[in-house]
Amino acid sequence: MNQGDRFYIRAYGCQMNLYEAGLVREILGRRGFAETSEESEADLVLLLTCSVREHAEQRAIGRLQNLRGLKRSRPEMILAVLGCMAQGRGAELANGLGADLVVGPDEYRRLPELIEAYRTSGERQIATRLGGECYEGLLPQNRSPITGMVTVMRGCDNYCAYCIVPYVRGHERSKSWEAVLAEAVALVRGGCRDITLVGQNVLAYRDGDLDFAGLLRLADRLDGGPWIRFLTSHPKDVTREFALALSELENLCPHVHLPMQSGSDRILHVMNRKYTSAEYRQKVAWLRAALPGLSLTTDVLVGFPGESDQDFEQTLELVREVGFDFAYMFRYSERPGTTACRMDGKVPESVAAARLSRLIAVQNDITRERNQALVGTRLEVLVEARRDPDLLARTRTNKIVVLKTDAPIGARIRAAITGIKGWTPIAESCE
Ligand code: SAH
Ligand code: SF4
Ligand code: F3S
Repeated sequence: MNQGDRFYIRAYGCQMNLYEAGLVREILGRRGFAETSEESEADLVLLLTCSVREHAEQRAIGRLQNLRGLKRSRPEMILAVLGCMAQGRGAELANGLGADLVVGPDEYRRLPELIEAYRTSGERQIATRLGGECYEGLLPQNRSPITGMVTVMRGCDNYCAYCIVPYVRGHERSKSWEAVLAEAVALVRGGCRDITLVGQNVLAYRDGDLDFAGLLRLADRLDGGPWIRFLTSHPKDVTREFALALSELENLCPHVHLPMQSGSDRILHVMNRKYTSAEYRQKVAWLRAALPGLSLTTDVLVGFPGESDQDFEQTLELVREVGFDFAYMFRYSERPGTTACRMDGKVPESVAAARLSRLIAVQNDITRERNQALVGTRLEVLVEARRDPDLLARTRTNKIVVLKTDAPIGARIRAAITGIKGWTPIAESCE
């Protein structure tokens, strides 16, 4: 490796990849690589890919094709595909699609060695062993000084019928609580005031006798009192005890992302989600009772094999009834190797697309209404960034507001919500 080599990194997909981009920065930085925001001047371009829907894969393949064009004029440039698609598609990316390095999510520590091997041999390098890696002891290079993430667990054992994640991320495993806290402390020392504990299902966290509620209790007592959030929670693991445990935490923010996927019990069952719509409602009720002013967000998937008009109506009904603050809504995308691929009753694309449009229209109105209801209230916000001439700030409920009063980045201030523009609340300081 040459001192002064420059890398460009781009992450797609979920919070896991965003966090892991920080790990890759740290791993390369330690070996003397410097980051550049200009792809065209990079010696090494890394794409941190996602496989969750076909569209995500196609975007990455499109990027790779452009980069191959760039490489024709700069043959020494190295193209690396990292992440879930590297894990799932392996050699295919190197052989057919022109990636020089293909590196799965458990192999990032080997990046310097793989780069070296490629440079000396000219041979494409593929590293896709899944080895239960948690990257303990590495502090990711964080983009924002104000907000940060700590991965507490990796992998997934749930095998929802539609989902590729367990295949590309391997089994569930947790980081030690000591490693989690050490990272959180380092973030706070660096000025961070808002920490999100992340994992595919953080409720599966376990270190010896310590469960996720126990880990949250420790995080809640961190010196400096950063706001604490967590992402994502599987509804099957939300219990009354867990909800009660949350109610005792001071710095925990009242926001839970609880992917519902469907409102039809039949579809939830074939999806292997392990809860019914009634159980989902019950869990929402426990969480709302425990955390006053709770903001709830969700993921919804339409067009799963076998989904009838009636099933879809039940999804709309549950969405209306719960009143989510925000939802990520997706059309089912078939993922090779998942159990849903073998199911009958494929929903025609046009039907799924029409259902998705209806769902989006329903939820958009709810999102707007929920934000509109904030007008006239006062709440605490964390000033995160400048967006001239205003500032962007985040509420404890994880909503971004436009702040019209000047304040230092990183300050937590009381703000009054004075209006709403589009969906975005407008705020002014009221200190
Ligand atoms: N671990 C998280 C979800 C990770 S994937 C959880 O269980 O909540 C994020 C979201 O992508 C899922 O909640 C689901 O709604 C969606 N998704 C997953 N696989 C999909 C597929 N094959 N097609 C469309 N959407 C999918
Ligand atoms: Fe995928 Fe289900 Fe695991 Fe979430 S819980 S990552 S949807 S298999
Ligand atoms: Fe995508 Fe991998 Fe996350 S498939 S959603 S980047 S775990």
